[in-house]
Amino acid sequence: MGWSPDGRALRILDQRLLPAQELLLDLVALDDIVSAIRTLAVRGAPAIGVAAAIGLAVTLAAYPGSQARLLLPDMAGRLIASRPTAVNLAWAVQRMCAAATQVADDALLAKLRAEAEAIRVEDVAMCDAIGAHGLSLLPDGVRVLTHCNAGALATAGIGTALAPVHLAHAAGRRVHVYADETRPLRQGGRLTAWELERAGIPVTVLPDGAAASLLKSGAVDLVIVGADRITANGDVANKIGTYGVALAARAHHVPFYVAAPWSTIDAATAHGADICIEYRDRAELGDIPAGASVWNPAFDVTPRELVTGYLTDRGFVDPPFSE
Ligand code: MRU
Repeated sequence: MGWSPDGRALRILDQRLLPAQELLLDLVALDDIVSAIRTLAVRGAPAIGVAAAIGLAVTLAAYPGSQARLLLPDMAGRLIASRPTAVNLAWAVQRMCAAATQVADDALLAKLRAEAEAIRVEDVAMCDAIGAHGLSLLPDGVRVLTHCNAGALATAGIGTALAPVHLAHAAGRRVHVYADETRPLRQGGRLTAWELERAGIPVTVLPDGAAASLLKSGAVDLVIVGADRITANGDVANKIGTYGVALAARAHHVPFYVAAPWSTIDAATAHGADICIEYRDRAELGDIPAGASVWNPAFDVTPRELVTGYLTDRGFVDPPFSE
């Protein structure tokens, strides 16, 4: 995910189609970029932040600077509203808006482009740093359980939860990853498995409901998941099902780590109860009788007490987090 080769569009790999089809999309219109984020063509907290930043730069490039400045607040609002839970999206968009205030109209478009590129490059570096710090968790032969996809597909770089896995593999260590399927959109079964298979890293996919049994069996040395938002007290919003994995890991004495860039820490939000959780359409649950209602939260909140450690680009950190 990044810029198209001519720099005029946001280029994404359409994750809705994986693993069956690898289709690159070049997007310029704001409607298309908002729709790609909302429908999870591009997804994962850091990735949607980078996509929104590049998206603003390319879509506003069609206007003179003075007009782009007038359009920016509305476009920023639409992007932020497209997915409410991952703080990285609002963080990146607000950074773009702040950058715009630093220059005159004639320099605005170049500034937006430079800021979006800075956000992308920083994300790549944060992934590398998370991976480097996390290597200590992964000795040769380690077995890791993860949930959803917090890998390269979810960032501009090598991922967050999967960053240490990618680096350990590159260093010649044997790592086996268990990937929760991650109902209902199957980010684990479709995306994590695709990404790891391509990297040559052994991966076993399991239905979400099997994670507790797997943890009980002793087949997992540690759990590493990503995060969409980490609050000041250390509560963690991540893909629905993460909380259940954390409970089962605690019950079976398996360490549970959260890996995220610093931009995922939302020190302005005190605790998990204050996080806006995104609810999604009933159609995602498949064939449900019309008379049955549906409860389909996209994320849950794992309380701080269940987290063994927070792995960030700045190393292992402990809450409380402050600005
Ligand atoms: O709904 P998604 O697929 O965007 O959810 C993604 C997750 O929950 C990831 O674990 C999280 O964003 C971290 S990605 C590095």
